[in-house]
Amino acid sequence: MSVIEDAAEAHGAEYKGRKVGSLGDIACFSFYANKIITTGEGGMVVTNNEQWAERARKLRNHFFGEPRFLHQEVGYNYRLTNMQAAIGLAQLERIEELVEARRHNAYLYGYLLKKVPGITLPPERSWAKNVYWMYGLLIDEKKFGMSMKQLMAELKKKGIDTRTFFIGMHKQPAYYDKKEVHFPDKTECPVAEILEKDGLYLPSSSHLAVEQIEYITDIIKEAQKNALRR
Ligand SMILES: Cc1ncc(COP(=O)(O)O)c(C=O)c1O
Repeated sequence: MSVIEDAAEAHGAEYKGRKVGSLGDIACFSFYANKIITTGEGGMVVTNNEQWAERARKLRNHFFGEPRFLHQEVGYNYRLTNMQAAIGLAQLERIEELVEARRHNAYLYGYLLKKVPGITLPPERSWAKNVYWMYGLLIDEKKFGMSMKQLMAELKKKGIDTRTFFIGMHKQPAYYDKKEVHFPDKTECPVAEILEKDGLYLPSSSHLAVEQIEYITDIIKEAQKNALRR
């Protein structure tokens, strides 16, 4: 069995001292515009397997063969432009600084929100290095005083954009009506259900200023105070 590692959002993250992207047999990174380092769009596949690397290069470029216009298999145009690659290399030179900024922001968010009832902060295990691509919270409606969706609306009123977490695989229409795949119902995926209902990403850019994080956390505390007063 081979393991394909989805490291799309985890540039620089570590598991037991090893960088993600080196844990599986083959790994994918995204360089979409909202990622820690970006080329605007596109991504990267990494592997130590020479044959797979060669195959990936061919799939990327129409599966051109010998002679050039004889295609042994169906390939695609997944090429990153040279200009994008140059941007990516320049971004790579700054990765430590960009990751450190996110870790610092996460520390600050955690410090300012840790005493707020009904908020679960993102944990970092002793064996992990989290790069906080997004700073995610869970909002327990009963303890916090309002739902995640209501808090999103309160933040929006003050000009602060947020995002919900991803929706579980068991709910993806693209897959769940396929007969050959067994899809669990929601009672079998209680954690994914909670993450979808309660999960909220706060602004997470590496370029956030301390004052912006303080502003955001003040609004969250204020929203809670108002909700508990009602
Ligand atoms: C875990 C994960 N996998 C895959 C993707 C998709 O990446 P892309 O949009 O570059 O294809 C994302 C994007 O955010 C992601 O977070």
